[in-house]
Parts: sequence; structure tokens; C-alpha cells
Amino acid sequence: MSSKRVSLTQYLVEQQREHDNIPAQLRLLIEVVARACKRIAIAVNKGALGEVLGTAGSENVQGEVQKKLDIISNEVLIEANEWGGHLAAMASEEMDEIHIIPNRYPQGEFLLLFDPLDGSSNIDVNVSIGTIFSVLKKGADHEGVSEADFLQPGKSQVAAGYCVYGPQTTLVLTVGAGVVMFTLDRELGGWFLIEENVQIPADTKEFAINMSNMRHWDAPVKRYIDECLAGTTGPRGKDFNMRWIASMVADVHRILCRGGIFMYPWDAREPAKPGKLRLMYEANPMAFLVEQAGGAATNGQQRIMDIQPSKLHERVSVILGSKNEVDVVTGYHLEAA
Ligand code: AHG
Ligand code: MN
Ligand code: MN
Ligand code: MN
Repeated sequence: MSSKRVSLTQYLVEQQREHDNIPAQLRLLIEVVARACKRIAIAVNKGALGEVLGTAGSENVQGEVQKKLDIISNEVLIEANEWGGHLAAMASEEMDEIHIIPNRYPQGEFLLLFDPLDGSSNIDVNVSIGTIFSVLKKGADHEGVSEADFLQPGKSQVAAGYCVYGPQTTLVLTVGAGVVMFTLDRELGGWFLIEENVQIPADTKEFAINMSNMRHWDAPVKRYIDECLAGTTGPRGKDFNMRWIASMVADVHRILCRGGIFMYPWDAREPAKPGKLRLMYEANPMAFLVEQAGGAATNGQQRIMDIQPSKLHERVSVILGSKNEVDVVTGYHLEAA
């Protein structure tokens, strides 16, 4: 078994050789992000022994209280990616402004966006959490870099992925040619391929939504969940199961492994906000992965990856996963519009 293992590096080199789809700078970028995730995994694993649990006593731009690990993970990703020459700038859920690569390092052509630590509410209770990342290319028509360079729709992503820190530490990746998974071998300190050509089944009997918000939902979401809950005698004619981990990474990982539908829809608690999740750090990279695995991702009205962002920290309503179920919920929204 071990002699036939394919490492992340070998996989990326062979992909480049066969399909010419991973330029050297992008390969470096992916390897650096993977290395940063390894460091974050080590910190996550130490937990209380590493004094990494609890809050940091600060707030991010979206008004969330930052956990120590939100900040540590953000710093690990910046430090790891700053000097390689592959990036022009970075943006993060935990930084108000973009982080331009300092002058002392060469500037690359890529832009890296990340949710350094997804599932913050699960850190202190030892439940799976993750890191999500998205890669864009800076336009070559101008010098310098600004926030405007980041405001590209998700369909412009050249790579996206996440790392889940769970019972196993697994890196899931797309460069636009399907979805692949690598698991960290802790003893060897390396990532090894566990699954190529990940596919989400089109049909499912499992939904993921925070049911405590039910009374705040819009009619199409209520209708869909009511019909799921009605079971075999209802209009859907089948029993549904429910899961809600409250770490998007872990919920999406389950969907990539066995199908399902995930929703964090708009709700009436904060009517002015389009949703809770962040378009650039959460919805776009996950939508890219899900579509690459044969699933679908919409905001109820349109494909997530077609949305033209107007600001870095933009939020969005998210419906993603098994294609036929996403089509049903999106259809209910379009009917009601
Ligand atoms: P983050 O920890 O990066 O702020 O993201 C948390 C997100 C997402 O991971 C999860 O699906 C959702 O928030 C959970 O929200 P609720 O606590 O409202 O269920
Ligand atoms: Mn957060
Ligand atoms: Mn998140
Ligand atoms: Mn986060």
C-alpha cells in the first residue's frame, strides 16, 4: 500500500505534465497552503495544551468575536504565503483590508482568499473545523494591486479547496479538473491522495440547515423543509435525515463524501444582509468544489459563481450540494419571485 501512495507533490507534478493545468506558481501556492494547513492542524490538535483555545478579545470586520485560533490560523497563512513570489495580495475573513505582499518580496500574479478557521464555535468543544481557500488571478493590464482586483465572480477562480481538521486531516482541492482529496500522514508529515474524481450523487435524502432559525426563513425555504419533514406520505415521498455540524467545511465534506444538501439561507433576523456566509471566503470556493464534483450551488436566484461581488466581505445566501435537491429549492425560490 505505502509504496503505491501518491503524494500531493507527485500528483500536482503529474497533473501539470499530463494536462498543463497547474503552472509552477500555482503549484507552489497550493503546496504552501497545504504546508500552512499542516501547521494549523498541529495547533488545533494541541488544543488546551498549546494554549490555543478561547477568545482573543477582539472582533473582526463582520462583528464576530475572534477566537485565538482564528488569529493564529490567519497569521500562519500570511507568513507561509508572503515570501514565495507567487502572490500579489491576500484577503481574509479576519482582516478588514487586503494584505498586499510587502515590497521586500517579489510580487506574483495570483490572489489568495481564505477563511483561516471555519467553524469557530466548534474549536473549544473539539468538533471538526477547517480552513477554506480560493485563488484568483490578478488582471495583467495594470501595475499594483487593490481591493478591486479581488472583486471577480467565483467562476474566475483558478483553484479552491479546504482542509478539514477532524478525525483525519484532509485537504480537498480543485483546479477546475475535478475534485481530489489528500489525507495527512502525521508520522510522515506528508499529504497522500485518497480519492480522485470525487462525485456528489444527484439525489439525496439528507439535508443540513440550522433548524433553530426556521421561524425567520423565507417561504420557499420553509416549504422545502416542511416537505422534507413530511416524509414518505408527503409530496417528496421519502424520509429525510438531518445533519448540522455548524462548521461549513465539515458539512460540505460530508456532502462531497456521500451527498446531501446544505443551506444557510437569508433569514429575517438581519433582513438587510443577503445571508450569513461570506461570498469570497466560503460560498465561492465551496461552490467551485461542489460544481466540480457534479453538484450545484445557488443563492436561490442564481448560480453562486455568477454573482459579481461588489465588496470584499460580501455575504450571500447559500444552497449547495446534490444537484436535484438544489434544483428543487432554487425552483421554489424562482416560483415565489
Ligand atoms: P466562521 O467560523 O468562519 O465564522 O464560519 C461559521 C459559519 C459556518 O462554518 C457554519 O456553517 C455557520 O457559520 C454556522 O452558523 P450557526 O452557528 O448560525 O449555525
Ligand atoms: Mn468567523
Ligand atoms: Mn467560515
Ligand atoms: Mn472563519
